[in-house]
Amino acid sequence: MPRERLSVVVTRRLPEVVETRLSELFNVRLRDDDTPMSRDELAAALREADVLVPTLNDRIDAGLLAQAGERMRLIANYGAGVDHIDVATARQRGILVSNTPGVLTDDTADMTMALILAVTRRIPEGLAVMQKNEWTGWAPTALLGGRVGGRRLGILGMGRIGQAVARRASAFGMQIHYHNRRRLRPEVEDALEATWWDSLDQMIARMDVISVNCPSTPSTFHLMNARRLKLMKPTGVIVNTSRGEVIDENALTRMIRTGEIAGAGLDVYEHGTQVNPRLRELPNVVLLPHMGSATLEGRIEMGEKVIINIKTFADGHRPPDQVVPAML
Ligand code: DGY
Repeated sequence: MPRERLSVVVTRRLPEVVETRLSELFNVRLRDDDTPMSRDELAAALREADVLVPTLNDRIDAGLLAQAGERMRLIANYGAGVDHIDVATARQRGILVSNTPGVLTDDTADMTMALILAVTRRIPEGLAVMQKNEWTGWAPTALLGGRVGGRRLGILGMGRIGQAVARRASAFGMQIHYHNRRRLRPEVEDALEATWWDSLDQMIARMDVISVNCPSTPSTFHLMNARRLKLMKPTGVIVNTSRGEVIDENALTRMIRTGEIAGAGLDVYEHGTQVNPRLRELPNVVLLPHMGSATLEGRIEMGEKVIINIKTFADGHRPPDQVVPAML
């Protein structure tokens, strides 16, 4: 007798090819409009389905997980970061969690470089001049930025994305430094020509550019707090394509306003879409709406990972990208 197909609820619109493939394989409920689900809708999905496919906009905490039904077995996250899911509670309730690592590494690293260049070379200011039709011609002293070649880049979090940033920045002539929970293996460190700093404080004080590439966990919350931001050189720049919670956004805003930090490039914010309004006013700050992984190729590959995770689970095996609390 053929096995009943798993019932899968997807919380957001996904690229069409991904939705089509999901529908071919599973008994899937797709989202009609592209808005996040309400908490009640999420609770209903957890009660009724076998598998939930959420995104980083869906906060799946212990309160919600307590409402999960007997059937709920897998949360196959569409995304790499799982800071919005209480992975430990899910595990206690026998619900597996998987994610989509690897496929958004290069896109996110590309965007990190784009932010570094946008801030140091003042690209948005140049764009504004052109859009306002204010350009009066080339001038030796107009819109002078700083050369990235030769600058010291301090990467905070040297996982897949941090290493991809290092490779790119190195090609731009930057000197690579990093701080990470664990030091890289010597052969990896050598290949990246990267210098490891055991002390984050000491690294911060000596860098020209800081790139935040660590995940958001309780131990990285406000890792760049007011005290550490104060250690940065006044000519220093910080970029963040990871999670907003790693930087104290109010302290950063204050210090850029007072000239204690030269600029910032941010793709993520401490309070989601509630961006500090003062940040928007600063010419030396480049803000993007969380688009580090926003390529069609990347978003399709994320969908393919979700499908492989669900399919492997449906076939009675552990999803290849299972996330367990010890990994966080
Ligand atoms: C993720 O997958 O966690 C990324 O932040 C999405 O861009």
